[in-house]
Amino acid sequence: MQASATPPDELDALRAAALPAIAGADSAALEELRVGLMGKQGKLTALLKSLGAMDPEARKSAGAAINVLKAEITEALTARRAVLDAAALEAQLAAERIDVTQPPRPEPSGAIHPLSRTQDELTAIFGAMGFAIKDGPDIENDWNNFSALNIPGHHPARAMMDTFYLTGGEVLRTHTSPVQIRTMLEQPPPIRIIVPGRTFRSDHDATHSPMFHQCEGLVIGEGITLGHLKGCLQDFLSAFFQVPNLPVRLRSSYFPFTEPSMEVDIGWNKKTGEIGGGADWLEIGGSGMVHPNVLANCGIDPRQYQGFAFGVGLERITMLKHGIADLRLFYESDIRWLRHYGVSPLSPATLHEGF
Ligand code: DAH
Repeated sequence: MQASATPPDELDALRAAALPAIAGADSAALEELRVGLMGKQGKLTALLKSLGAMDPEARKSAGAAINVLKAEITEALTARRAVLDAAALEAQLAAERIDVTQPPRPEPSGAIHPLSRTQDELTAIFGAMGFAIKDGPDIENDWNNFSALNIPGHHPARAMMDTFYLTGGEVLRTHTSPVQIRTMLEQPPPIRIIVPGRTFRSDHDATHSPMFHQCEGLVIGEGITLGHLKGCLQDFLSAFFQVPNLPVRLRSSYFPFTEPSMEVDIGWNKKTGEIGGGADWLEIGGSGMVHPNVLANCGIDPRQYQGFAFGVGLERITMLKHGIADLRLFYESDIRWLRHYGVSPLSPATLHEGF
C-alpha cells in the first residue's frame, strides 16, 4: 500500500512556523533553524523523503507543493544570513575604527649605533666638500699596508702597530691608509676620498680594542698645500663637533707616509670635557703632506702632483662628542647603553639641520 499525499495544511503549518522564525533569528538561531529544516534529520528533508513512498499521482502534486515551500525557506534563510552578515561587518568596522589624526604613541624602537652615526655624519660633511667614500678589505697584503706607504720591512713602525699576521703572509689591516694606495693605483688624480672602516691591532684596554675604526682622508691634485689640509680639517672638525671656529692645532710629528707630518689636536677643557672651551689640547689623529715616495709607488709623478692625507680614530671622536668614557662598551651590545647613546633612525645626518 502506498502512502497518501502530504496534507496541504501540514505544509502551511510548517511555512507559518518557519518563515517568521527565520526572519527574526539571530545568527546561532538561524543555523539551528536551517539544520532543523534542511539538515539530514530536518522536517523539510523528511517531507521530501516521504515522496518516495507515494503513488505517482500523489507524488506529483505533493512534490510540487513541497518544492515551492523548500524554495521559499531557502530564500528566507539566505536573505536573513545576508542581513546578519552585513550587520556583523558593520559592527566590526565600527569597533575597529581608528582615528588617523591622533599623534602616534611613542613605541620602543631601534637606534643607530653611535659609531654608525659618526660614519654617517662624516659622509655628510665630506660629501658636501666633494669627497667620495671608499672602502677596502679587512685582510690586506703587506705591500698595501706597509711597503707602499713607505714603511719598509725593517722599519720600527711595523713593530709599533701590533699587527695581526695571517698565515698566508697577509695582515689584518692596521690602519685605513692602505686604501690610499688602492685608490691611487685605481684612478688618476685629482683624488678626493674618505675611507671610514674597520682596523685591527693586538691591543686591549679601556682605550684600545683589537678591532676599532678609523677614517682616512686623501686629497691629490696639482698645487695642493698644507693650507688646504688645515682648512679641510678645520671645516670638518667644526662641523662634526658643532663648534664654530673650533681651535685646531697641527703639531709636528712623524709618519713614514707623509712629509711633513703633523698630529691633529683640538682645543678642549680637560676638567669639564667641553670641546672647544678651555686651554687644553687633545690629539684626535695624524696628518701630513703625502710623501713623494708614496706617490711614486703608485705611479703618480710627485713633481706634478701633491696631496695631503689624514687619519682619525672614529671611536675617539665619538667618545669625545658624546662623553663616552670606556671604549669597550661600543662592542658589548648592552641594550641600555645602545638606547642611551644610540640615535633615532628618524633623525637624518644632514649638514644643514646640524647633528
Ligand atoms: N695611519 C695612521 C695610524 O693609523 C694615521 C695617519 C696619520 C693617517 C697620518 C694618515 C696620515 O693618512 O697622513 O696611526
